[in-house]
Amino acid sequence: ASATAALLLATSASAAELTVGFSQIGSESGWRAAETSVSKSEATKRKINLKIADAQQKQENQIKAIRSFIAQGVDAIFLAPVVASGWDAVLKEAKEAKIPVVLLDRDIDPSGKDLYLTAVTSDSVHEGEVAGEWLAKTVGGKACNVVELQGTVGASVATNRKKGFDAVVAKNANLKVVRSQTGDFTRAKGKEVMESFIKAENGGKSICAVYAHNDDMMVGAIQAMKEAGLKPGKDILTVSIDAVPDIFKAIAAGEANATVELTPNMAGPAFDAIVAFKEKGTTPPKWIQTESKLYTATDDPQKVYDSKKGLGY
Ligand code: AHR
Repeated sequence: ASATAALLLATSASAAELTVGFSQIGSESGWRAAETSVSKSEATKRKINLKIADAQQKQENQIKAIRSFIAQGVDAIFLAPVVASGWDAVLKEAKEAKIPVVLLDRDIDPSGKDLYLTAVTSDSVHEGEVAGEWLAKTVGGKACNVVELQGTVGASVATNRKKGFDAVVAKNANLKVVRSQTGDFTRAKGKEVMESFIKAENGGKSICAVYAHNDDMMVGAIQAMKEAGLKPGKDILTVSIDAVPDIFKAIAAGEANATVELTPNMAGPAFDAIVAFKEKGTTPPKWIQTESKLYTATDDPQKVYDSKKGLGY
């Protein structure tokens, strides 16, 4: 045992010497920008050299970045996968180069399960369920036509947030998803798609609630509702995901109703897992799950807004 310990000591890297390459998706949302910013501060805290490659929403750029990190011989690779499929080949290359990969905030297809060390993500099916349960409880059996703004097509979080919400709808005959379309996780597309939903649904009069897979799309949808002369949060209920400061501003103004929190600090637990793995040989659990807490107007939205400022927002 002492020989193993000596070997580990000899080959171990301290956090100060570690270089981590992070293939980030882009900057589609306020949450994403906060995740990038928190990753930098969490790296600085641990004296880790962090190299971030912004893929501008393109998987091909993420694959190129991973290959470049492998060529540079980084100690670990963090990957926020824009979509779930198409990673096996490049992750095999990382595995062959003995570079551990950590998934941040989104999952990949099950075929890639053996190709990464751990994933720091929420339970995104559960997020959809939390949003759906809030709506079911709030409307209390009243008939409610829902329009849905989906995230990026093919992203695990978009598939799963839909799945979780649909499961609640299936149990509540009064809830019906009448329209569902992608808004690609951006404010601009959320607004654009909501405008088309309003036009198609009797000027918005037949819409009871909007479910958006993230707060940024909801902020865009709120703008669309206001421009159409509707009162978001009153005429039309809202529930979305992320808990970014801007949604708390809207909740405080009575223009939004509920959000499910997703922490932007995915990198902190990922760095801890990598340091323990490199320094002590500790294998982390395959899934490091983050919390999914529901916030509504009863949670003092102004106070939550103020408290979010130091968290990368
Ligand atoms: O993968 C996490 C999601 O990606 C966030 O909910 C969304 O805002 C972001 O773009």
